[in-house]
Amino acid sequence: MNDLMEKVVALCKRRGFIYPGSEIYGGLSNSWDFGPLGVELKNNIKEAWWKRFVQNREDIVGLDAALIMNPKVWEASGHVANFTDPLKECKKCHGRFRADHLKDETCPSCGAKDSFTEEKVFNLMFKTFIGPAEESANVAYFRPETAQAIFVDFKNILDTMRVRVPFGIAQVGKAFRNEITPGNFLFRVREFEQMEIEYFFTPPKADNDWAKEFDKWVSEVHSWIKDDLGLDPKKVSEYEVPDSDRAHYSKKTIDFMFDFPFGKEELYGLAYRGDFDLKSHQESSGQNLKYRDPKTGEEFLPHVIEPSFGVDRSVLEVLLDSYFEEDGKIKLRIKPSLAPIKVAVFPLLSNKPDLVNLARKIYLDLRKIYMVVLDERGNIGGRYAAQDEIGTPFCVTVDFQSLEDVMVTVRDRDTGRQERVKIDELKNFIQEKLNGNRNRT
Ligand code: GAP
Repeated sequence: MNDLMEKVVALCKRRGFIYPGSEIYGGLSNSWDFGPLGVELKNNIKEAWWKRFVQNREDIVGLDAALIMNPKVWEASGHVANFTDPLKECKKCHGRFRADHLKDETCPSCGAKDSFTEEKVFNLMFKTFIGPAEESANVAYFRPETAQAIFVDFKNILDTMRVRVPFGIAQVGKAFRNEITPGNFLFRVREFEQMEIEYFFTPPKADNDWAKEFDKWVSEVHSWIKDDLGLDPKKVSEYEVPDSDRAHYSKKTIDFMFDFPFGKEELYGLAYRGDFDLKSHQESSGQNLKYRDPKTGEEFLPHVIEPSFGVDRSVLEVLLDSYFEEDGKIKLRIKPSLAPIKVAVFPLLSNKPDLVNLARKIYLDLRKIYMVVLDERGNIGGRYAAQDEIGTPFCVTVDFQSLEDVMVTVRDRDTGRQERVKIDELKNFIQEKLNGNRNRT
């Protein structure tokens, strides 16, 4: 593993962000559990996404559908037939690899040459059984993408909500893929979360019509990365997926690539799915999934553009992009609004009840709004360092002067600057800073 990745993985474990899954039983390869700080970071990312794409928009509504759906869904969507990767197995060590990821005929695991089996097609969906009998009639799948539920519930949303094309449906939730070669920490896992939107619009008369809609979404994705995640735009690039590599449903796909320590890899995807999905579900279900234009009375199957964002890859890129060392100390320069803990409150000395009581009062008050910690241990320098490691943007110290002037010292993580702030103005002060951008020094 690359040096930066190793450091981030170690920090995540040590400071309660992310633990190896099932660790007391020897672990389960490539499964990860989000600890108390990791779940805060992940929730903050999901909340920011929902706020940007659902709450702040008049044209997108939300959905949270069942994870296990009628298996006919996956037949109609093409996943049973096409959601496959090419697999080769090494006859010597029995390692299994994605054929399209192999550089030559040498096994990456044991080094054996020309020892691979013929290429097989491997379906990535996880199978399970519904009910007590494990029979093929009861086979079901854990969803490999959140998107299909949006198409399946499209009619319900048309019938119950006042939506007018163009409009979108957004969903955040778990997806499962039996990846042949998971790895690189959170980058490729078998159980992950997606944040997806299907954006429906009138069938285009010319290519230019959908291209305009597609371009709008390209800039939306870039703004999300820059403004909400606070990432360095220089690390992000676009890759147009060639015809031969595109998913079966897509007429055009752009992958947003991020400079991960292990190379430029896909962070998010944006695809023009045409009317592939609604049409397939209409045919397979026998239900009319057409939208009726209220002005013209015209009926049609809308076309779709789909921005798809991985939650786990978002967490990973935020951690990697924020990790920074200064004078041998670690700092996570996470955008303040995403930081797991927003404020740490310190009494200058832990054996002075007046200081401790005032610090506790401030802590309890701020806790109503943000995730806040109270820390009385060790010296102030050590406490700052502990908070820097987990990316806490503001440390508030209550000192003897505070008992007289009712002010506290607020120290900024990124600049190290300290300011005296009136206690009753603290909330506004912090809120203003949280609304602003990360200050990289
Ligand atoms: N509905 C379209 C779709 O699922 P995708 O490119 O297969 O498209 C979309 O997946 C996003 O989901 C990816 O860009 C990535 O962020 C995330 N993702 C996909 N597979 C993943 C995996 N095995 N582990 C973590 N994230 C994954």
